[in-house]
Amino acid sequence: MNMTEIDRALRELRLSGMADTLSTRMMQAQACDQPFIETLGVMLQDELDQRRSRLMDRRFKRSDLDEKAALADMDWRFNPKLPRTSCFELHTLKFVGEGANALIVGKPGTGKSHVAKAVAYQAILQGYDVRYTEADAEFARYTLATSLERAKLMKGWLAADLLVLDDLFLARRIADVGAEVLQAIVHQRYKLRRSIMITSNRVVQDWGKYLGDATMATTILDRLMHRCTMLEFEGKSYRLKEAAARIIATQESS
Ligand SMILES: Nc1ncnc2c1ncn2[C@@H]1O[C@H](COP(=O)(O)OP(=O)(O)O)[C@@H](O)[C@H]1O
Ligand SMILES: [Mg+2]
Repeated sequence: MNMTEIDRALRELRLSGMADTLSTRMMQAQACDQPFIETLGVMLQDELDQRRSRLMDRRFKRSDLDEKAALADMDWRFNPKLPRTSCFELHTLKFVGEGANALIVGKPGTGKSHVAKAVAYQAILQGYDVRYTEADAEFARYTLATSLERAKLMKGWLAADLLVLDDLFLARRIADVGAEVLQAIVHQRYKLRRSIMITSNRVVQDWGKYLGDATMATTILDRLMHRCTMLEFEGKSYRLKEAAARIIATQESS
C-alpha cells in the first residue's frame, strides 16, 4: 500500500485520528530512526486522543452547557465570604458518585452559576452524563410542550448522572405545571440516586411561596435535602463590578 491507500484504509476503518497524523508520524519515524513499535504506539495514541476529545465534545454539546467554565477563573478575594472549600469539594464530584445533591443559594452576581457550570463541566471531563438547564425557561418550555415532547424532556432530565437547575425561581412564581414537574424530577431522581445541583437567588424558606404550594415545597425539600450540600453565597455582585469597569473604560476613552 502507498500512503494514499493507507490513508484511505484508515478512514474506511474509522481511524481518522491515525489518518490525520499519518504523514507527520511517517516523517518523525524516518527522521528519528524510530523503531516500528514506537511509531505504532504514537499512532494508536493519536487515535485514542482524538476519540476522547470527540467524546468530550459530544458530551458537552448534549449537556446544553453554554460555556466551559472553570473554578480557576474565580477571584476568591472579590467575595471573601464565599464557601471556597465547599466549592472545591463539589468540584471533586464525590457528591455525584454518591447520588447526593448540591444547593447553591445566595445573592445575584456572586458566582453561583459560574461555580455550578464549572462543576458541571468537570463532571463532563470525568465522563459523567450531564444536563444543564436554565430552570425557569425549561419549565416554561415544558408547560407549552405536547405530551410527546414532555415525555422526551422528562426522560432527558431523569437520565443524566447530574442535572443542573440553574436560577430556579428567577421569575419568582413558576406555573403549576412547573411546580409539579419539579416535584416529579426531585422524587424520581431521589429514587434513582442521581444528583441534582440547583442554584437560586431565593432562600429555601420562601420556596413554598414561589411554588404556590407549601406542602409541595416541603416534600420537594425533604427529598432534596436528605443528602445535600448547602452553599450560601454572600457578597457583592461581580456583574456590577464588571459594569462599573466598563463605564470607567468608556469615560477614559472619550
Ligand atoms: N468571584 C468571582 N470571580 C470572578 N468572576 C466572577 C466572580 N463572581 C462572579 N463572577 C462572574 O460574574 C458573572 C456573574 O456571575 P454568576 O455566576 O452568573 O452569578 P449568579 O449566578 O450568582 O447570579 C459571571 O460572568 C461570572 O463568571
Ligand atoms: Mg445565576
